[in-house]
Amino acid sequence: MEKKVAIVTGASRGIGRATAIRLAQNFGAVIVVARNADLLKSTAQDVKAAGAQALDIDADLREPAAAGLVVQKTLDKFGRIDAVVNIAGAVPQVDVLQMTDEQWDDGFALKLHGARRLAIHAWDALKATRGSVIFTSGNSAQAPKSGFAAVATVNAAIVAMAKAFADRGIGDGVRVNSVLPGPVMTDRRRSYMEKYAAAHAMTVDEALEKFPDQAGITRYGKPEDIAELMAFILSPAGEWLIGAALRMDGGEVKGL
Ligand SMILES: NC(=O)c1ccc[n+]([C@@H]2O[C@H](COP(=O)([O-])OP(=O)(O)OC[C@H]3O[C@@H](n4cnc5c(N)ncnc54)[C@H](OP(=O)(O)O)[C@@H]3O)[C@@H](O)[C@H]2O)c1
Repeated sequence: MEKKVAIVTGASRGIGRATAIRLAQNFGAVIVVARNADLLKSTAQDVKAAGAQALDIDADLREPAAAGLVVQKTLDKFGRIDAVVNIAGAVPQVDVLQMTDEQWDDGFALKLHGARRLAIHAWDALKATRGSVIFTSGNSAQAPKSGFAAVATVNAAIVAMAKAFADRGIGDGVRVNSVLPGPVMTDRRRSYMEKYAAAHAMTVDEALEKFPDQAGITRYGKPEDIAELMAFILSPAGEWLIGAALRMDGGEVKGL
């Protein structure tokens, strides 16, 4: 049987890195994508140690040409694509009254358009394998705050875009879903907590300690928690999961 191939973006750190390593248990090869070449090499080593082949591609996914390049390099080396897991994201965390046009554009350029282009470039290969795409959104899509305007807006747009891809995928044999993580302890969450601390007149250490209680959760998520959800969605057991927006947040969102 041919070995399945997954592309994971944002794989140099955090949720993307944990997902790439977790998928090495279920896929024959994992392609890891982000900008930091050294960190990517370290993820690739861990993917190999977990049992899969690895290919690291350092690329800035905001650049329009990057998605095509990632798909081409993957097909050149492995000849197929079974999963595209879009995790890269770095939307500026700025107040709605302060945010510049450039910051808005930058937020959409990577997390929305970078992911959209990668799905499109990989689509024919995914049709051939009856593959799967995951887009990463976030809880902020359902609870926008003025201090993080673009994060919420981009995340809401991603859920809608994933639905549109899912609709097309039903006819094409490509399964598409989105994942909404809650507060997961990563570099990005730490930078969020620095702003949260300043806004709540606390030190960062105090904020880190108090936030889970204030958010009504017992602990921060681990990147590995979300990685397990990604692996389930891509597994045969997730076959009838299509167009879903799956939240994993330790119970942070209390509404329906
Ligand atoms: N952590 C949370 O609490 C949380 C909650 C909700 C949603 N999310 C979402 O989950 C995803 C991962 O978050 P995380 O917390 O794991 O973030 P992170 O630790 O900051 O990792 C972000 C990843 O995106 C990559 N990246 C950033 N800019 C890029 C670019 N221009 N081109 C290619 N790759 C780029 C980074 O690698 P390089 O810097 O090497 O390029 C890194 O691998 C994001 O989309 C985030 O919005 C996270």
